Amino acid sequence: MAPDDPPHQLADGEIHLWVLPTDAARVERLCTEALGLLSPDERTRLGTLTRPSVARRYLLARGLLRRGLAWHLGANPADLEFRYSATGKPLLERPDARDLAFSLSHASSDVLLAVARARCVGIDLEPDGRAAIALRIARRFFSAAEQRHLQSLGETAAPYALMLWTLKESLTKAMGRTVWDSLAGLSLAIEGDRIRWLASPPGEAVPWMLTVGRFRDAHTLALALVLPDSAAAGSLRYRYHILGEGETASVAFQPLSALV
Ligand SMILES: CC(C)(COP(=O)(O)OP(=O)(O)OC[C@H]1O[C@@H](n2cnc3c(N)ncnc32)[C@H](O)[C@@H]1OP(=O)(O)O)[C@@H](O)C(=O)NCCC(=O)NCCS
Repeated sequence: MAPDDPPHQLADGEIHLWVLPTDAARVERLCTEALGLLSPDERTRLGTLTRPSVARRYLLARGLLRRGLAWHLGANPADLEFRYSATGKPLLERPDARDLAFSLSHASSDVLLAVARARCVGIDLEPDGRAAIALRIARRFFSAAEQRHLQSLGETAAPYALMLWTLKESLTKAMGRTVWDSLAGLSLAIEGDRIRWLASPPGEAVPWMLTVGRFRDAHTLALALVLPDSAAAGSLRYRYHILGEGETASVAFQPLSALV
């Protein structure tokens, strides 16, 4: 991207989802290009990742993060400077990013970036293969009300636990907290196409918008966000970008349940 590309304004209620292409040769090229975008601290972190698959995913995620945000801001991807909260949430401190919220998630080899005009946003992507683990965690650590609900579900308990887990992780990331805060500290139920709080939501009177659904073939995806005070509440619209290929109409995310 050229440094002088214009910014692309974010409209209210619009969520931009940035994904990697599926073509292996293109992904390889993005991986090489991402190396040239890293800051010194990102290079240091890359150097500590000894498993090649993890290092590669980190590199791709940084490339996606930098190039996606740069598109929205009209900036040079390599010039973006991140700072990190005490819990590791990346933050972008520049006047033109005041209402811009973003969140990154990786699962297996897939990476996803969400960008929105919002007070905060959190996204989480989990491969379906984690359903059995999610159920074990849920039975041990989720709230009592959630556990009662799980017990009534029979065979669908594992995929349900994965959806709930993904939803809690998205909320955790939107709040910039840690996974330990969300296990029993957030209590939710997914009932058909609706999500409902089983206990008071975090942050009094914060109008959370939550969505959970399917991503590509074998993933569960959840999104949590709070719109800025100035934005009118309404339904969310999704826009998809394939890194290096531009915006696409092909739908990568199928929302199933929501709380808006
Ligand atoms: C944030 C957290 C819930 C995400 O877990 P995850 O499902 O394993 O990871 P995901 O792939 O979905 O997301 C990772 C990305 O979220 C972002 N992130 C990291 N910590 C975050 C936080 N506290 N809030 C919001 N976003 C966060 C980063 O962009 C990270 O990607 P990067 O490392 O490439 O920059 C989890 O890592 C956590 O609880 N972190 C808090 C600190 C902590 O407890 N660390 C463990 C120490 S042993």
